[in-house]
Amino acid sequence: MKFTTTFVCLLACTLSLKAQKQGTTKKIKPRNEFVTNLMGQMTVDEKIAQLVQFTADGTVTGPKGGNNFIDEIKKGNVGSILNATGVDYTRQLQKINLDNSRLKIPLLFGYDVIHGYKTIFPINLGETASWDLEAAKLSAQIAAAEAAASGVHWTFAPMVDITRDPRWGRVSEGAGEDTYLGSKMAYARVKGFQGNNLADLYTVLACTKHFAAYGAAEAGRDYNTVDMSERVLRETYLPPFKATVDAGVATFMTSFNEIGGVPSTGNKFLVNGILKKEWGFNGFVVTDYTGINEMVAHGFAKDEKHAGELALTAGIDMDMVGGVFLKYLKQSLAEGKVTQAQIDDACRRILEAKFDLGLFEDPYRYNDAKREKATVYKKEYLDAALSIANKSMVLLKNSNNVLPLRKEQKVAFVGPLVSDEFNIIGSWAALGDRNGYAVSVQEGINKLIADKSKTTFDKGVEVLGTKKELMQAALDNARKADVIVAVMGELENMTGEAASRTNIDLPGIQKEFLAELKKLGKPVVLVLMNGRPLTLTWESENMDAILEAWYPGTMGGDAIAQTLYGINNPGGKLPMTFPRSVGQIPVYYNHKNTGRPYFGNKDSEQKYKSRYIDSDNSPLYPFGYGLSYTTFSYSNLRLSSKNLTVSTKITISVDVTNTGNYNGEEVVQLYIKDITGSVTRPVRELKGFEKTVLKKGEKKTVIFEISAEDLKFYNIDMKYVAEPGDFEIFVGTNSDASLSSQFQLNIKQD
Ligand code: GLC
Repeated sequence: MKFTTTFVCLLACTLSLKAQKQGTTKKIKPRNEFVTNLMGQMTVDEKIAQLVQFTADGTVTGPKGGNNFIDEIKKGNVGSILNATGVDYTRQLQKINLDNSRLKIPLLFGYDVIHGYKTIFPINLGETASWDLEAAKLSAQIAAAEAAASGVHWTFAPMVDITRDPRWGRVSEGAGEDTYLGSKMAYARVKGFQGNNLADLYTVLACTKHFAAYGAAEAGRDYNTVDMSERVLRETYLPPFKATVDAGVATFMTSFNEIGGVPSTGNKFLVNGILKKEWGFNGFVVTDYTGINEMVAHGFAKDEKHAGELALTAGIDMDMVGGVFLKYLKQSLAEGKVTQAQIDDACRRILEAKFDLGLFEDPYRYNDAKREKATVYKKEYLDAALSIANKSMVLLKNSNNVLPLRKEQKVAFVGPLVSDEFNIIGSWAALGDRNGYAVSVQEGINKLIADKSKTTFDKGVEVLGTKKELMQAALDNARKADVIVAVMGELENMTGEAASRTNIDLPGIQKEFLAELKKLGKPVVLVLMNGRPLTLTWESENMDAILEAWYPGTMGGDAIAQTLYGINNPGGKLPMTFPRSVGQIPVYYNHKNTGRPYFGNKDSEQKYKSRYIDSDNSPLYPFGYGLSYTTFSYSNLRLSSKNLTVSTKITISVDVTNTGNYNGEEVVQLYIKDITGSVTRPVRELKGFEKTVLKKGEKKTVIFEISAEDLKFYNIDMKYVAEPGDFEIFVGTNSDASLSSQFQLNIKQD
């Protein structure tokens, strides 16, 4: 087994050193002095123009197409453009802008660099399954380097929306259901995108989105209503956003949804109140695509002019594509509906970001064709993409150790995604190449298995559509094999934005094809490429092995091949619960106990309990779950003390042993249960994790440290405090961990 942790760290160091060496520009003047001086010369129109973003032609990510944006640039009406990429094109647009800008204020170029720019990494949900914060930081760092070298200043990432509903297509873009893991990932990704200095030529502004609680859309239907208590908002959904402020994120993006009747784009309490005032965020806030205009449809603004006033007053600084600020703000100012101070504050925040990038020093500093060519698709980046894809693999089932495969076996590779190079890089894949550059599973296998008599490749079925004639050829080859590997899943456009599903089974007739394959009486391995948890109850009962590969990115085929043949031992853990059925949704590990908790199965006699009569309450695969080709045992859980006070810490130690035949990586997880609170508390919450490499037979002691800070929550008075009382801790391999111990928190004994 090849371990790549060292490789990833080494690469990270190389990258950060290289970035720092590159041109960090000296500042022309202290920022505040420069911006104040510039704003002193600007007219109201020129200030409002900074608040305006239009989209370049071609790529649109919302209901409106590319506006006549070049005319608007020529009129000096634009501060930022999204969806323009490449050093040549952005240079061209920047020149048009500067030639028509009285004060030579540069344009800011934004783009959705979500999980890679050209070198594409696993979708963020998949990358989160690695539970590897260094890997998450590195992929963001590489994405930033390729984007910045290609003329992009600003990425609309990380997406940090917590979500407990796999019907929602955008679960693919985030870090899943858990606040603690999501906060750690959010922090790492911002650090990766922004590095230590925004003026470095290989870093970009990050943008935390979608503020806020977009992942709680009712029924998992995109853009749908969100309604929750302030306690749930603050305790579950906001911490990852706050983590990015702590990481120094430069920008935020508001979400399309309303929360409790108030659209985020016009939500004073959320934007000015929590983000800017309470958290002290001093970057700028952009709306999502036409989010201002949409407040009319929400029924929150009587017309677009009113929507613009509500947005600016709420704390919005930039209007993405809507054209509302451009069209109405000057009139609203004249009418006293908004103030000059509000416009000035928004303008200043945006100018400061442009200053920090060094754009006033040199508006073309990110437009170096040689640097672009030398940076994109660097071998070390592709190697990192392979390493991170390997880390994202989650082994869900492996009966009779059917995996890893052996090279002498005859294997029939089948399935609609077995030779796919298009969907494998997932949705929101920026400028990732979809025709021929990404490594398909077939290509990955062929690199490993030289003897072509050992493998066959047949689609068998499409992901969607019912063409059954393909199936026969596949079945004929499968009949002659020792093992069958089916590569199946969702098309990339069935996940991501505006891609909610009411049925999250394997689409089309893929399951029917699996049933035909099973009839052949050979071991069947299911490899999944998908952007959300799927309902796999039949598959879990009928497949011999299941490998969750997500959309593994540019090097995905190599990662899947290396995992199937044991070069990579899968160590990923689910960042999101896999339900038994859609009927269970929302189902997540850190739920409340209720007054009638139920722990049995669907056949037990207990009636008056919180349960279903046709399903177990437990999910198919719980949060934090993932197998390995080896096995691990946990023992000797011990605490340094059974009594915690507000000024002490408790050390938690556990011994973890690799009891199997392969070297492997285990994510040791720590959960804590607050037995009683002034409000009810979850049955357990993730409070720590440690990725641990163990050679076969090796034992290590893993140590966690907790303090009263880790026990805080919003109490009955909405104060963020830890309350004295009894706590239980659980340590283990997933959120069902049963190895436990107890301690008390005593506030008084200080
Ligand atoms: C889209 C998405 C958002 C993206 C933006 C710009 O509608 O909601 O995540 O960053 O528009 O493409």
